[in-house]
Amino acid sequence: MKIAVITGSPRRNGNSFAMTRAFVEAAEARGHTVQRFDAAFLNIGGCRACQTCYKTGKACSFDDDFNPIAAALLEADAVVYTMPVYWYSIPAQIKGVIDRIFSLVIGGKEVAGKKCALIACCEEHAPTVMDGVRMPLERSAALLGWEMVGEVLVPGVLDEGDIAKTDGCRQAAALAEKF
Ligand SMILES: Cc1cc2nc3c(=O)[nH]c(=O)nc-3n(C[C@H](O)[C@H](O)[C@H](O)COP(=O)(O)O)c2cc1C
Repeated sequence: MKIAVITGSPRRNGNSFAMTRAFVEAAEARGHTVQRFDAAFLNIGGCRACQTCYKTGKACSFDDDFNPIAAALLEADAVVYTMPVYWYSIPAQIKGVIDRIFSLVIGGKEVAGKKCALIACCEEHAPTVMDGVRMPLERSAALLGWEMVGEVLVPGVLDEGDIAKTDGCRQAAALAEKF
């Protein structure tokens, strides 16, 4: 499978990146091809809602770093999002990518049938802290006709390295078995 991995953390040594690495290594070991995009280190703005998607020969008329991601998403058999929880929600760094998947819909592209998964972490311990990340992605996947095959949700991690005190990386590696 071709798997597009999109990360949202700005911390290269952070908790979600550690889980992302564990997932990618396990997925590649199983023979999958992974294309990874670290949204926080790319120039990706929000959707302008101009609805000129694909009318100018590219996914988004505003030609920033989203367009290569759009091409990878179209080709991918699966999409994996990884991110921390920011204010009970999706970090701005990756939200622009998610919002601009709108361009594939407006452009009439065939996107249904992909698999999708989520890897997320947060400081607090209550599982409901993840709702603001989990629910929009589950609903968006359903709308797009993507099958949510797995979610690795790790609460209780704050500082870089905290993930090592949990089984998050083991869970992220095991997620690769769902593809
Ligand atoms: C701007 C910001 C907002 C945050 N908001 C929340 C929050 O609402 N709930 C929570 O439990 N943790 C919150 N956190 C903590 C992060 O989710 C936590 O540190 C996580 O482990 C960071 O993942 P990373 O190392 O992959 O970046 C926030 C952190 C930042 C920087």
